[in-house]
Amino acid sequence: MSIQLPDDPYDAVVGLRTVRKYAPRPVSDEDRDAILEAGRWTGSAKNRQDWLFLVVDEPAVQAQLADCGRFSGPLRDARLVIVPIRLPGGYEFDIGRVSQNMMLAAFARGVGSCPVTMHDEACAAAVLGVPADHGVRYALCFGYPDDAAEKAARAGRGYGGRKPLDELIRHNRF
Ligand SMILES: Cc1cc2nc3c(=O)[nH]c(=O)nc-3n(C[C@H](O)[C@H](O)[C@H](O)COP(=O)(O)O)c2cc1C
Repeated sequence: MSIQLPDDPYDAVVGLRTVRKYAPRPVSDEDRDAILEAGRWTGSAKNRQDWLFLVVDEPAVQAQLADCGRFSGPLRDARLVIVPIRLPGGYEFDIGRVSQNMMLAAFARGVGSCPVTMHDEACAAAVLGVPADHGVRYALCFGYPDDAAEKAARAGRGYGGRKPLDELIRHNRF
């Protein structure tokens, strides 16, 4: 495990990058619970907390889930998967917030993460036994980083950059 932990929380917010290659050791119960606790404390519209956190750590289930997305390789290798389930009437915005908070909390504890899209949501619902009126669009992969494998996988392309701020900002009117 070798995430460079920033001293300043701001640096964690701007420094969070996806990790798709994970060391063999499982995520500790303490780190798993800290990640889930960060999810629990996320703010939501009207504080409705319209979510459930489905914890998946059976490789066979992870492999089935991986067949439900187009870019879901990390799901097979993850040491821990948390699927944020959106309850009926809940907002996808809240699921985004809860996901980011869990990934930031993981990062703060040296755990790498990657969100994965369940392009075939019905498939994910069937694999996990989630009722049809619940949302299961994303799964979050976690594990301590395997730096060498991550570097090799990123060879030639490195980390994605970001658009410059002056392309993103408008003042007062579009
Ligand atoms: C809504 C959303 C869906 C994503 N789906 C996938 C996915 O299906 N598979 C994957 O490997 N990464 C997925 N990602 C991760 C993005 O590819 C990643 O955040 C982006 O490339 C920036 O990566 P970086 O922060 O490491 O630069 C997803 C990210 C978001 C926010």
